[in-house]
Amino acid sequence: MKHTKIKALLESSQVGEKVIVKGWVRAFRSNRFIQINDGSTINNIQAVIEYENFDEAILKKISTAAAVEVHGTLIESQGKGQSVEIAVENVHILGEANPDEVQKTVMQPKKHSLEFLREQAHLRFRTNTFGAVFRIRHGLTFAIHKFFNDKGFYNLHTPILTSSDAEGAGEMFHVTNFDLNNIPKTEDGKVDYSQDFFNKPVNLTVSGQLEAELGALALGQVYTFGPTFRAENSNTSRHLAEFWMIEPEVAFNDLKDNMDLTEEFLKYLSNYVLENYADDLKFLNDRDVKEQSAKPAKDRNPLTLIERLEFVANNEFKRITYTEAIEILRNSKPFKKKKFKYDVEWGVDLHSEHERYLVEKEFNCPVIITDYPADIKAFYMRQNDDGKTVAAMDVLFPGIGEIVGGSQREERLDVLKKKCADFNIDEKEVWWYIDSRKFGTVPHAGFGLGFERMVMFATGMTNIRDVIPFPRTPGNADF
Ligand code: 4AD
Ligand code: MG
Repeated sequence: MKHTKIKALLESSQVGEKVIVKGWVRAFRSNRFIQINDGSTINNIQAVIEYENFDEAILKKISTAAAVEVHGTLIESQGKGQSVEIAVENVHILGEANPDEVQKTVMQPKKHSLEFLREQAHLRFRTNTFGAVFRIRHGLTFAIHKFFNDKGFYNLHTPILTSSDAEGAGEMFHVTNFDLNNIPKTEDGKVDYSQDFFNKPVNLTVSGQLEAELGALALGQVYTFGPTFRAENSNTSRHLAEFWMIEPEVAFNDLKDNMDLTEEFLKYLSNYVLENYADDLKFLNDRDVKEQSAKPAKDRNPLTLIERLEFVANNEFKRITYTEAIEILRNSKPFKKKKFKYDVEWGVDLHSEHERYLVEKEFNCPVIITDYPADIKAFYMRQNDDGKTVAAMDVLFPGIGEIVGGSQREERLDVLKKKCADFNIDEKEVWWYIDSRKFGTVPHAGFGLGFERMVMFATGMTNIRDVIPFPRTPGNADF
């Protein structure tokens, strides 16, 4: 007989049937009630044993974190808190867990700090919080593929090893197979990349966009979903050195179409989590309520986690231009009272304090800011007729900040070449990208969703390290 997943058991009405469950002990109370979890759901099943019928030696091994296989009959629960439970006939210990060792870990059933949980990233999957987070992370992955597949997009695998720095920010991890203690040098003392594996400098990708554009200009609409690497030394709660990004790219779309697609996409994802992850969401919602109530009143979010997801799903995003955003900021109280750390004037990049003001104080809803100054955005963004701004868009979310960055792309060969010159990009380095503007170039647009930022929004976790299984940040690459 095969064992049954706990999720299926709790949803079934097969009372009276013989069942087998395999999972890990969350708690064992009164030598009688075993709480078992197998990861299929946040809920445990309760297995009830008549301890008189079991060896003392076995009973001792039914301890927190141990793996067990339980045989018994599914019965209506005698106690409160669950509808069914298992009347146990037999228990096999599959994997023991030494209680003294468990005491020192996050598997000990008590509240742990997130910092402590991060130190034990290999064990934190066993906690309710991380179980819920990673089930929802999976749900979002699935929903992303479903959304695009249903719309006729093709998933394109863009390279992880590349010689391009798509964003031009120079925040790349270099890849080489040189012996680092003995690097070949040219006559003038520089690194001789001609002897390196790829005969040129290569890095881990910072974005699959440029390659995705080539796909879109043939397949019509594509999206990437892959790991992305940035060596920016920002040790913040919103940055990772390795994160996942979803980058759709659509031929014939302009900036407006791009905004519409983003908004529809983010609404869809919010709805998907609400509809499919109610149990995990309820747990995280309660957790978030407790966290919020511990904060000073002015920092509290007036909406619960579930309400925030519903809000995004059901309300239109506010759309403003960068120029309008600057005006609003310069007329704001914090600006007039000199409360902003960074100055606000036309031409500067917005800092997170400004973004937060717009999203959390001024509009209280997701905001899309468009048409940024050309100088502060990437070379590939389409030049607007004013000659000063580009058809860029950033989507800002309450509590998260920038969640999406995108644009309409410069499809005009002459303008793109001029942009390369302005940005000091060697045309020879990106010849393959420029080439695409010579053979039936068309308007097109796309964006990048930072996957972990979306998972943060959907789970209420406030540190990005807590929504990726094994976070990579400056100084941290354990596990
Ligand atoms: O705004 P970014 O840099 O845009 C691009 O890379 C474009 N090529 C996207 C496109 O148009 N196809 O990054 C996109 C998103 C950001 O809005 C943010 O959500 C996330 O990626 N992101 C990060 N997430 C975690 N850690 C980091 N270090 C991140 N850097 C960007
Ligand atoms: Mg950006």
